[in-house]
Amino acid sequence: MYEIISKRLIAPAVWRHTIKAPEIARKRQAGNFVIVRPITGSERIPLTIVSSDTQAETIDIIFQVVGATTMDLAEAKSIQDIVGPLGHPTHIENYGRVVVVGGGVGIAPLLPIAQALKQAGSRLTAILGARSKDFLILEDDLAPISDELLIATDDGSQGQKGLVTNALKPLLDKKAVDFVLAIGPVVMMKAVSELTRSYGVKTMVSLNPLMIDGTGMCGVCRCKIDGQTKFACVDGPEFDGHQVDFDNLTRRLSMYHAEEKKRKEIRS
Ligand code: NAD
Ligand code: FES
Repeated sequence: MYEIISKRLIAPAVWRHTIKAPEIARKRQAGNFVIVRPITGSERIPLTIVSSDTQAETIDIIFQVVGATTMDLAEAKSIQDIVGPLGHPTHIENYGRVVVVGGGVGIAPLLPIAQALKQAGSRLTAILGARSKDFLILEDDLAPISDELLIATDDGSQGQKGLVTNALKPLLDKKAVDFVLAIGPVVMMKAVSELTRSYGVKTMVSLNPLMIDGTGMCGVCRCKIDGQTKFACVDGPEFDGHQVDFDNLTRRLSMYHAEEKKRKEIRS
């Protein structure tokens, strides 16, 4: 059992939990994730480690309540199982002028990578997108490490009105970008990758397919990258956005949403 030290509601239905997990706190690097099973018999869900504190021996995770398992996690006092750190740590170097693009809950996995890129000497522009200002997370964590911070909300309640791609395009037009990292909904990562492709700017994305074991055994997390099958848990989760088959990822994720809908209907 892993004790939940604190929990905070940071946006509607979005929680930040601090969990006692000494081994994971010691070993994790930017880009690593954990697989969490809140209670016996529940599903296993992959969540990026947002931060860790080696002194307090804790890790932080951020998640949105979207179904039964994340509801269990929101209500839990302790967590049954946590496996990790998993996945390749992000390759970090000074890429020059970097733009990190985070959409909605995808801003959570973006934060530790943005911190590491800044530490490596990159000039950092952060573009954060959310449906409205209430759904914007981690602005206070990204602002101090960003040379420039741009906010885009769908309804214009904070920053500029529109999608993150509207904020990114003028930077690309100015030829002010050497590298882009985008994490968020699949449609967002696809749109960012399509945009940067036309400017020839290298773009990495972090994929969030379904996962079970997280160790390359079950094949559930398979994705198509440059026409080849890759497992996000052991080959990723980050991949070159210009090589990802996003439509395939969307189809595979929709299988889960259909199942989740069925389960909700049975419960109600
Ligand atoms: P959301 O739907 O509110 O979108 C967030 C922002 O993404 C929007 O404000 C917009 O700026 C941008 N965006 C959305 N559609 C776009 C498009 N077509 N073109 C350009 N930009 C677009 O986000 P949410 O509800 O917080 O996100 C939930 C989704 O994010 C879930 O599907 C979840 O699985 C995914 N997610 C992904 C990761 C990851 O690692 N990739 C991590 C956490 C969550
Ligand atoms: Fe099973 Fe990746 S989650 S192979």
